[in-house]
Amino acid sequence: MTKDELRQRLEFYQDLGVKTIYRRSVTTVPAPPIPNPQPPVLSLPTLEPTQDSLLTILADIGDCKRCRLHEARHKIVFGSGNQEARLVFVGEGPGADEDQQGLPFVGRAGQLLTQMIEGTASKEGIPIKRPDVYICNVVKCRPPENRTPQPDEMEICGQFLYRQLQAIKPKAICLLGSTAAKAVLNTKDGVTRLRGKWHNWRDIQVMVTYHPSYLLRPYNQSAKKEAWEDLKKVLHYVYD
Ligand code: URA
Repeated sequence: MTKDELRQRLEFYQDLGVKTIYRRSVTTVPAPPIPNPQPPVLSLPTLEPTQDSLLTILADIGDCKRCRLHEARHKIVFGSGNQEARLVFVGEGPGADEDQQGLPFVGRAGQLLTQMIEGTASKEGIPIKRPDVYICNVVKCRPPENRTPQPDEMEICGQFLYRQLQAIKPKAICLLGSTAAKAVLNTKDGVTRLRGKWHNWRDIQVMVTYHPSYLLRPYNQSAKKEAWEDLKKVLHYVYD
């Protein structure tokens, strides 16, 4: 394993919240003659399935009861869209409509997201519709009263989000709102500071923009223009 591969592997464990790693199996390269001893080659057990797919991830989630959010949920909202999408949108968590239907962004915020994607694409001459992209959330179960997911809920469910993103390997990810930004970019910065610029997650380009629910509030209309600008940037980067 090269230094770079080891770094990536350790970052993966860190994303999963693993803080301590034990050297369970150590393979020692036959000792070269002194005075030039080589360090032992470390072989770490892998937690990340090598051939991960959305179906495997869904099966691993199963009838999830890993956190308190399962208690009031009707349906787990895994994600929807093109499994080989070049662009993935990540929201915060399901609302009431999504919880009933088991699909992400099908309520009012979802209608606005569809308009934003399809309207911007059509204006910019990019021939894509909502089913061409993939849409999912940080947490897969509806938080009671649509409250913001708590850090432990985000950490537990975040591992499945990371696996979804790794399995799809899109050209770009668009993070909708500060919860998605916090979960993927591991930052405390707000959307105003993060939006409009490119970020990076495991070699994938990442754009942050406003959550559609925020744009639905009448006093946030100036943010709409900025969100459209962000989306234009993403769509051109991915589809030009
Ligand atoms: N808001 C989200 O963040 N996700 C949904 O799926 C719906 C509303």
